[in-house]
Amino acid sequence: MENKTAPNTTPEQLVLVVDFGAQYAQLIARRVREAKVYSEIVAHTISAAEVKARRPAAIILSGGPKSVHVDDAPKLDASIYQLGVPIFGICYGVQLIAQQLGGEVARRGNGEYGRTLMRRIAGAQSTLLPDSILDQSRDLSVWMSHFDAVTRAPRGFVATASTPDAPMAVIENPAKKIWGVQFHPEVMHTEQGTELLQQFIYRLAGCTPSWTMDSIIDMQVAAVRQQVGGQRVVCGLSGGVDSAVAAALVHRAIGKQLTCVYVDTGLMRKNESAQIVETFHRAMGIELVHVDAGARFFERLAGVTEPEAKRKAIGELFVRIFEENTGGLTDAKFLVQGTLYPDVIESGGQDGTASVIKSHHNVGGLPEDMALELVEPLRSLFKDEVRALGAQLGLPDEIVLRQPFPGPGLGVRIIGEVTPDKVGVLQDADAIVREEIRLAGLEREIWQAFAVLADIRSVGVMGDERTYGRPIIVRAVTSEDAMTADWARLPYDLLEKISSRIINEVAGVNRVAYDITSKPPGTIEWE
Ligand code: XMP
Repeated sequence: MENKTAPNTTPEQLVLVVDFGAQYAQLIARRVREAKVYSEIVAHTISAAEVKARRPAAIILSGGPKSVHVDDAPKLDASIYQLGVPIFGICYGVQLIAQQLGGEVARRGNGEYGRTLMRRIAGAQSTLLPDSILDQSRDLSVWMSHFDAVTRAPRGFVATASTPDAPMAVIENPAKKIWGVQFHPEVMHTEQGTELLQQFIYRLAGCTPSWTMDSIIDMQVAAVRQQVGGQRVVCGLSGGVDSAVAAALVHRAIGKQLTCVYVDTGLMRKNESAQIVETFHRAMGIELVHVDAGARFFERLAGVTEPEAKRKAIGELFVRIFEENTGGLTDAKFLVQGTLYPDVIESGGQDGTASVIKSHHNVGGLPEDMALELVEPLRSLFKDEVRALGAQLGLPDEIVLRQPFPGPGLGVRIIGEVTPDKVGVLQDADAIVREEIRLAGLEREIWQAFAVLADIRSVGVMGDERTYGRPIIVRAVTSEDAMTADWARLPYDLLEKISSRIINEVAGVNRVAYDITSKPPGTIEWE
C-alpha cells in the first residue's frame, strides 16, 4: 500500500535551536551542523510537552533583536528549564534565562557592539570555559551586540567571565545543565567561538559527531524508498544545484523508477544544456527527457519587452511544456522538488521573530494543481550541505558550485526583446566573465557574476573602423542570501582582462561597463 505521509527523517541526536531572531537562529543551526550534529530551528512558542516529545539532546536559545523588558518580549515556556535537557542561551537567550529563573537583567547605560575583551572571573569554577578555551592568563576577543546585561545570576548559577559592560558575560548552572553567554560564539569574529559551541554540544550535552554526508545519504535514501515504494517518480531539472542534487539522491534511492525532464528554454548559459545531458544521462545513467524548446520560447517572446511580461511568458510556457512532456508518464505518482530547509522554516509568528523565508521568485515553478505527491529529499538541508551532498553523490563541481541562476534565464539579462542572436552574444560574453572569475580564483567568494546585454548601441573605434555596437554590462556581487548584496571589488586587472576578451572575442560588442550598484537600491538582476 502506498505510504501517503512523508517519513520521519530526524536523526537520533537532535539539537533544537529556539528562534528569537531568524538570522541568529539560522547561523547557530548551521554551526551545530558543521559540528556534525543535526539541528532544527523551532519557534520560541514551542511548549515543554512538544520539546519533550522531540527528545532533543540539547537546546540552544538564540539571540534576538528585542529587549527582555519590553511588553511583547518573546518568552520561553518556563517548564522547558525543568526538563533536564542541557540548555545554552546566547545573548537574548541568556538574558531570558536570567529573567525567567529569578535573576536580574539591567538596562545598561552603555551597550556593547562589536569586539570586546572578556576575562575569567577569578576563582569561579567553569565547565563551559576549560583552560584550553579561556584561562586566567589572557583575555578572549568576543563579538557582542547587546544593550541590556545580566547583573544578578539566578539562584544556583555562577558567573564565570565578564567584559567591561557585561559583568556576567557567562553564567553557568551545571547541576541544572543550563549555561548562557552574552556574546555570540556563532560568529566568526569571536575567538574560540567554534570550540565553545563544541564544548557545549559535545562535552556538556554529550552529543557525538554523527551527522555526516554518509549518514544523510543513508537516511534520505531510506526515506525516499519508503515514501515512493515501487512507483514512478518525475523530476524537473532546471540546471540549478537543488534540483540536480535532489535528482541524484532520488536516483541513488530508486534508480530506474526516476525520470528526469529537462526543459531547455534556449535561455540557458553557454554549454549548460549539453552539460546537463552529459552529467545526468551519460555519466549517471538517469533516464532523461530533454525537451529542446528554444524555438517555442523565442516565438513566444517576440516583441515582448517589459520585464514582468517576459517573466510571465517564460514561466507559463515552461509549465505548459513541462506538462506536455510529463503527460506521457501516466504512471508517475511523485514529483521531486528541491525544497531546502530555509524555505520551510516557519518558526515564528505573531511577535516579529518570524523566520518565514520563502523563495521570493518562483518563475519556472510547477503548477499547483499537478496531481503528484511531492518528494522533497533536501527539505532538512542548508545550501552548503546540499552542495557537499552533491559532491558526495558524484556530481561535478560545475554543477555543485554553481551560482544561482534565475528561472527565466538569460531572458531577464537581455534588456528589451529576446532574440536568438542576442542570446548568442550574451552567452559568449557571460562565459568569458565566469571563466575569468574562476581563473582568478574568485568563484567561491562571489555570489553571482554574469553579463547583461543592454538595449542600446554606442559608438566606438576598432582598428581604423568606426563601430556602432552593443555594450555588455558586467555584474558581480557578494552576498549571503541575495536579499542584500554588494558589488564585488574585482581587481582592475581582472576587469581589464574581461573587458578586452569580450570586445575581442564577441562580435558586435564594442564596450564593457561594470555595474557598481549595491542591493538595495539596485537588484542583482537587471530586470
Ligand atoms: P534580484 O534581482 O531580485 O535577485 O536581486 C535576487 C536573486 O534571485 C534571482 N532571481 C530569480 N530567480 N526567477 C528565479 O528563479 C526569477 O525570476 C529571478 N529573478 C531574480 C537572482 O539571480 C538572485 O540570485
